[in-house]
Amino acid sequence: MSKKILITGGAGFIGAHVVRLFVNKYPAYQIYNLDALTYAGNLENIADVEDATNYTFVKGDIKDITFINDLFQKEQFDAVIHLAAESHVDRSITNPNAFIETNVLGTANLLNAFRDTCKGNFEDKLFYHVSTDEVYGSLGKTGLFTETTSYDPQSPYAASKAASDHMVRAFGNTYGMPFVISNCSNNYGANQFPEKLIPLFIHNIKNNKSLPVYGDGQYTRDWLFVEDHAKAIDLIFHKGKNTETYNIGGFNEWTNLDLIHLLCAQMDEKLDREKGASVKLITYVKDRAGHDRRYAIDATKLNKELGWKPSVTFEQGLAKTVDWYLENESWLNNVTSGAYQAYYKKMYEV
Ligand code: NAD
Ligand code: DAU
Repeated sequence: MSKKILITGGAGFIGAHVVRLFVNKYPAYQIYNLDALTYAGNLENIADVEDATNYTFVKGDIKDITFINDLFQKEQFDAVIHLAAESHVDRSITNPNAFIETNVLGTANLLNAFRDTCKGNFEDKLFYHVSTDEVYGSLGKTGLFTETTSYDPQSPYAASKAASDHMVRAFGNTYGMPFVISNCSNNYGANQFPEKLIPLFIHNIKNNKSLPVYGDGQYTRDWLFVEDHAKAIDLIFHKGKNTETYNIGGFNEWTNLDLIHLLCAQMDEKLDREKGASVKLITYVKDRAGHDRRYAIDATKLNKELGWKPSVTFEQGLAKTVDWYLENESWLNNVTSGAYQAYYKKMYEV
């Protein structure tokens, strides 16, 4: 069945994997990728699909109401898969307003424009909002986030994503706009910008730079290979029920220190370095303000209702990720030149 689908943020990390999957798997769909190409967006991430006949890239900002309204009026999309966002917690601590503007107001602009073009006829329409487990706040030593866990966001990033989730549900309730929301745990894999833990540490190990561990390093995250997230989005988009929320996670909890030790061991082997060489780069630094102690997702609903499960173990996914970064040196060099240097200096060298 033919459909015109707008994917936002498709030049970013997760968005690029979603765009690639949809363009290749569904030749009958027309995929529009809308991205502002901020520091985190990079057309190199999806260069392999740029010539596909069912793919169109649109450069634009979801904050720009006029531009968004014109685009929706012109293209009359059947569905939106919304990933564009400011996504890094540390940046939200230094500049919260950028997160409110893109994540809250930008999402509202898309919702309004979609509602306006549907003109009350929502048959076969869908707004899919991609969100995060951070909206649920922080867990203690036990327990998991389920779809009914109360929202309790702790960082400006998490609060902006929580607000956008609420706005999507409000549009569903008030205007009858069909929607699904998924809340996913920490992703890792190819094309992730090296401000996030895993690509930052791969980059630093490669360059023999120190590994800045926040606080005591005992913070826990639940890691999921990005291609498994993209497959879950595909499944939820096609089989998810209107107005439902789905948690996505790897049942794969690691403390930061355990993860860093595994990464160092894999890097030592791949770089042919002496065992234990990279671990010596670990440096404890000042903790992140308001740092959430533990995230862990219960993905039972997605597994039981839609049959999804992760396809790789963490060891396999991490090894693939390390290989990708080592084989794509020019990608890493390009994204770490220019503005990245100033960011790194401000974050880590004060
Ligand atoms: P990312 O920062 O790598 O990419 C974000 C993309 O959005 C970039 O291409 C950027 O250019 C674009 N963008 C930013 N502001 C924009 C604007 N105003 N207008 C248009 N485009 C804009 O992010 P990511 O890690 O790929 O995350 C994608 C989505 O998934 C986000 O909504 C994030 O909250 C969510 N998420 C991320 C993770 C994770 O671990 N990375 C986990 C769960 C959910
Ligand atoms: O849980 C989903 C979220 O995961 C997504 O919504 C966010 O977009 C994504 O950025 C990620 O958030 P985190 O804050 O968990 O990811 P980050 O990679 O920034 O940090 C992971 C852990 O590592 C966290 O406990 C902080 C720590 N850390 C991070 C960096 C960048 C360090 O110890 N040192 C660092 O330099």
